[in-house]
Amino acid sequence: MPRVQQLLEELSNSFGPSGFEGPVREIVKREMLPLVDTVETDGIGSLIGRLGKSDGYPRIMLAGHMDEVGLIVRYVTPEGYVKFQTLGGWLDQALINQRWTILTKNGLVHGITGIKTPHVMAPEARNQVFKREQMFLDIGAESKEDAEERLGICPGDPIAPDSAFQVLSGGKLYLGKAWDDRVGVALMLEVLRGLQNQPLESTIYAVATVQEEIGLRGAHTSANRVAPDIGVNFESGVAGDYPGITQDEAQEKVGEGPSVFLHDSSMLPNLKLRDFVLDVAKDLGIHVQFNVLSGYGQDGAEMQKAHSGAPAINIAIPTRYLHSHNSIISRSDFDQAVVLSVEILRRLDNLTVENIRSFD
Ligand code: CO
Repeated sequence: MPRVQQLLEELSNSFGPSGFEGPVREIVKREMLPLVDTVETDGIGSLIGRLGKSDGYPRIMLAGHMDEVGLIVRYVTPEGYVKFQTLGGWLDQALINQRWTILTKNGLVHGITGIKTPHVMAPEARNQVFKREQMFLDIGAESKEDAEERLGICPGDPIAPDSAFQVLSGGKLYLGKAWDDRVGVALMLEVLRGLQNQPLESTIYAVATVQEEIGLRGAHTSANRVAPDIGVNFESGVAGDYPGITQDEAQEKVGEGPSVFLHDSSMLPNLKLRDFVLDVAKDLGIHVQFNVLSGYGQDGAEMQKAHSGAPAINIAIPTRYLHSHNSIISRSDFDQAVVLSVEILRRLDNLTVENIRSFD
């Protein structure tokens, strides 16, 4: 299987709710080690790879978050059903009647969020959304003791969506869970690969962050560690190209190129950096889309605010159906984002960074 597809598949399928990114970190570390000069882990688990020049050159921080939205075990009922707490932004409708995996001290346990049988429901109840407080996981346990002792379930154990990667549309589109933000992590890794044997005029810090979905926590600590001069974040974008969503809600279309965020609730990009990115894209003949969101937060905001501040930008891969078991991205958007980002980093030398950082 071609390497890039294999990497995306492995990252999408891997287990890593916010705060429990271990399995993803192992993959990223394995991929990063041959591509960078040093790899370290910060105090809450973000992985920081360093490549390029040392002192006296601009410090460019890249980020992609390893975590996905998930759940944790709240408690087990006497009958052996698992009650849960959500991690990250879930719609109640997206939680019900899905397959899930719990990572316990005994290994993986599979289960489903059971949905009440319609046969027993009053007509008015059939139109109501099930609330998360009513939900539970059925893991096939016979009792609380069976769940805890035989299956190894313990309150606090992490739970991730169980949803396998698939290729759609003859290879053009990839369906999977956790594109938010495994697609950004894969993009960062492929950018590092593209920078091998390139003459760099900067120090690149490629950071696979943790706990983004619960408040940009990993980017906060790692950006303070790196103290970037420029921040480039890699994210899943918000596609607005399916029935029922409007251009006023989201502008990106899957398959029409990488996007640049011009507004979200966490950050405004630096416009000199935006124009620099657009100039590079124009030279390469890559179509860049824009997005203006009223919600959403992303790790670029923490790079922008670390220490005395840094110009930052968010480059995204348009994604349909975020924060659910099944999201869709385009392989061509991914490939173009790699080419664009490699060239952006090749051109970020002392003078260019000085110009972008200047407010005169
Ligand atoms: Co994200």
